[in-house]
Amino acid sequence: MKICVIGTGYVGLVAGAAFADFGNNVTCVDINEEKVDMLNRGEIPIYEPGLDRIVERNAAKGRLLFSTDILGSVKDRQVVFLAVGTPQGDDGNANLAYLKDAALSVAQGINQLTIVVNKSTVPVGTAEVIQEIFNKNSKEEAIVISNPEFLKEGDAINDFMKPERVIIGTTSERARHIMGELYAPFVRSRNRIIFMDAKSAELTKYASNSFLATRISFMNEIARLCDVVGADVESVRKGMGSDSRIGPKFLYPGIGYGGSCFPKDISAILYLSHKLDTPLHVVESTHAVNDRQKVYLVEKLLSRTKDVKGLTVGILGLAFKPNTDDVREAPAHKIIEKLLSLGAVVRAYDPIAMDNFALEHPQKEGSLTYCKNLYETVTGCDATFLCTEWHELQRPDFAKIHDLMRGNLLFDGRNVWSQSEVAEAGFIMECVGRPTIEAK
Ligand code: NAD
Ligand code: UGA
Repeated sequence: MKICVIGTGYVGLVAGAAFADFGNNVTCVDINEEKVDMLNRGEIPIYEPGLDRIVERNAAKGRLLFSTDILGSVKDRQVVFLAVGTPQGDDGNANLAYLKDAALSVAQGINQLTIVVNKSTVPVGTAEVIQEIFNKNSKEEAIVISNPEFLKEGDAINDFMKPERVIIGTTSERARHIMGELYAPFVRSRNRIIFMDAKSAELTKYASNSFLATRISFMNEIARLCDVVGADVESVRKGMGSDSRIGPKFLYPGIGYGGSCFPKDISAILYLSHKLDTPLHVVESTHAVNDRQKVYLVEKLLSRTKDVKGLTVGILGLAFKPNTDDVREAPAHKIIEKLLSLGAVVRAYDPIAMDNFALEHPQKEGSLTYCKNLYETVTGCDATFLCTEWHELQRPDFAKIHDLMRGNLLFDGRNVWSQSEVAEAGFIMECVGRPTIEAK
């Protein structure tokens, strides 16, 4: 099929590359010239494991093109995907300005009947709004449908190539048929395409993200209770997750969820619920619990030291989760802001996301220093926090860390450091919902 994808971010670029990989002719369009220039030079503007190889092989075969020219690129296409950002607006709702701009350009460019697929995460009713833009501005017929995306950053290729389900929101038989054909190679082993109306598809996306976030906040509260009663949340998690009705995934407590999606999508569904006077009490609590959880490690440090003024704290991991350079809403932002406001000196490191993080929090002589690796970070620190469980941060040489640090306090925000190794090396360690380790 001939496809155009508008927006070459985490979703658009992965989707475009994956469709091209199955033999479709794809043009990916972005208004950001720098991104398109990079892609045309064979460089990938985001860090997403495995994406470079797929882009490279499909670009080499001429099946994957990159352009800034929307009007030219949407001509003669059966399907045009809209995959632009829908960031949180000042009122808490999703900001649809980019989507509407993109839709208007597509409407002016199409020259045949086109299925316009909204892949961005959008409030219920947006497909109708976008359809209206086409009805008013296009000479050709467009069928606007909803196809929300469920990929996770860091695992995006696998999630997109082998989706657990594909949601297609439209009542148009023609659109259902074309989308069924397009996704058929992705769902060969099991028919996981679920057809529904557009509003239900749009709400499925928000409901799924809210539910996943709720599991995390629930476990974060259980972890706090474990801390008080002296239980180990790792055991509780395994015990709960072995019930097939609960399942083991997304039960990991930590320092709160971040990223470009859970926080903004929860804000958007709450905006809708307030507007329609239909409260979502559980989701409200999910958000509040998460906000508090992000500074749990700082609270733990304060309960040990009372005053952190003048202390040096090492922060390991700045991305909102491993395998991504994305730092949007990462817990590390709040942690570092809090520590700096209390007068601590911070040394920070991330294997991939440091440059992105520094855009918001630039290095500052005497208060915030970015370091080259884990060991440089911990040098001279009184306490060290693990904020992102990158592989390279999970099994460090704790004896060496002990030699380099000034103090002996560790805070593992992801419950991944070996308790026995940490104790052996002479540290005191606090986790999230696990008994404190006292130095041997
Ligand atoms: P992103 O910010 O990484 O990329 C969006 C891209 O759209 C940018 O490159 C931007 O320049 C481009 N753009 C904006 N306006 C444009 C226009 N008029 N024409 C052409 N290009 C334009 O965003 P993302 O993370 O890929 O997310 C896109 C959407 O998908 C959002 O609604 C998001 O909620 C949703 N989503 C994201 C993920 C994820 O893991 N990131 C997963 C599922 C769904
Ligand atoms: C999430 C969803 O998992 C995707 O299905 C969805 O498509 C995407 O949002 C979106 O709508 O954009 P993503 O934000 O990339 O994907 O990352 P997740 O792996 O879901 O992690 C989100 C946050 O939750 C991270 O900060 C992570 O550390 C945290 N988390 C995750 C936990 O604290 N505990 C867990 O058990 C799982």
